[in-house]
Amino acid sequence: MKRVLLIVGGGIAAYKVCELIRLLRRSGIGVRCVLTDGGAQFVTPMTLAALSEAPVHTSLWDLKDEAEMGHIQLSREADLVVVAPATADLLARMAAGIADDLATTLLLATDKPVLAAPAMNVRMWLHPATRRNVDQLRADGVTVMTPDEGAMACGEYGPGRLPEPAAIADAIIAALNPDRRLAGRHILITAGPTHEPIDPVRYIANRSSGRQGFEIAAACAAMGARVTLVSGPVTLPTPPGVERIDVETAQEMADAVAAALPADVAVMVAAVADWRVEAAAGQKLKKGTMAPGLSLVPNPDILATLGHSPARPRLLIGFAAETERVVEHASAKRVAKGADWIVANDVSGDVMGGEANAVHIVTADGVETWPRASKVAVARQLAERIADAL
Ligand code: CTP
Repeated sequence: MKRVLLIVGGGIAAYKVCELIRLLRRSGIGVRCVLTDGGAQFVTPMTLAALSEAPVHTSLWDLKDEAEMGHIQLSREADLVVVAPATADLLARMAAGIADDLATTLLLATDKPVLAAPAMNVRMWLHPATRRNVDQLRADGVTVMTPDEGAMACGEYGPGRLPEPAAIADAIIAALNPDRRLAGRHILITAGPTHEPIDPVRYIANRSSGRQGFEIAAACAAMGARVTLVSGPVTLPTPPGVERIDVETAQEMADAVAAALPADVAVMVAAVADWRVEAAAGQKLKKGTMAPGLSLVPNPDILATLGHSPARPRLLIGFAAETERVVEHASAKRVAKGADWIVANDVSGDVMGGEANAVHIVTADGVETWPRASKVAVARQLAERIADAL
């Protein structure tokens, strides 16, 4: 039986968790409840205990007497931790990593996925502090549902209502049964910039942070794929379950890609330097000498090489960073490089190194324009699109 640890925060919408517990129990999901002090103002432990058919915990200190049920164990025995209603205060404490009561201590101690269903006044939801906290939690891997829009208990109207219990139950069931459609597939991803040496201390580089490629690697691994991530110099942690090969130059990246084949899918996200210095100096160039004129020669085009190789993966995806006529240039690259899809992004704004991305997917069938979204969301959508195509 799958088990959920349900943390009930202090909001008027807390009464709706009674229905949520009923739906989960009916789906055969075990539920154990923790009530915050605020939550206990709106529903009683007795109600939740009766519906969940399990003891309800409220205080960090009531666990002391139960040798077999410390707070670590309470979070470990669950498959998923759910926070509903997730109040503005609870989201803020989660985002800051505060652990000053049983609920927040469990949230800091857990190694399980966390799903939060927010509910609060519309102004609190739209407040920059809450926006920041939600962004932080999402970056930390917490699934934060979007609240419903409508008339609120306080008489105002707008986004902030707790999603309906049936919608929360659906999200819980999806989180408990993750999409593993990429299991058994090998996905090869390049990410980050390359550094092309001028001398032992100087190099030519670009602004790529590697974040989009790392998020795609994380999303594909989460869907069960074996992921090889060939990364240029970046300062990002390796996503869980991903095999990472660090390289510096375009030539090293090309070699690492060739060595990692065969792959079912290749996603070439790296911003590979188009040129390298023909003869990098063996010693540091001294300022006292003449300013060096750099003679550049083209680097291998990794995507194009793969696109025209007998070892071409079944699905070959390139990225195109453009500052003008984005779709037109991306379509031309798709054909020239022998790729199936080109994910085109307009890098004229703050995309490179930034959090969000606005992309067009150019395929043989046409162009899809995706709404501007976080790099995490773009990665997840792309991984799903890959699974659909295989
Ligand atoms: N790419 C590659 N090897 C290169 C250059 C680019 O594999 N030497 C890949 C990138 O990883 C990306 C795609 O090609 O998937 C397009 O990269 P982009 O820099 O947008 O295109 P370029 O071919 O460099 O063309 P241009 O600079 O003229 O826009």
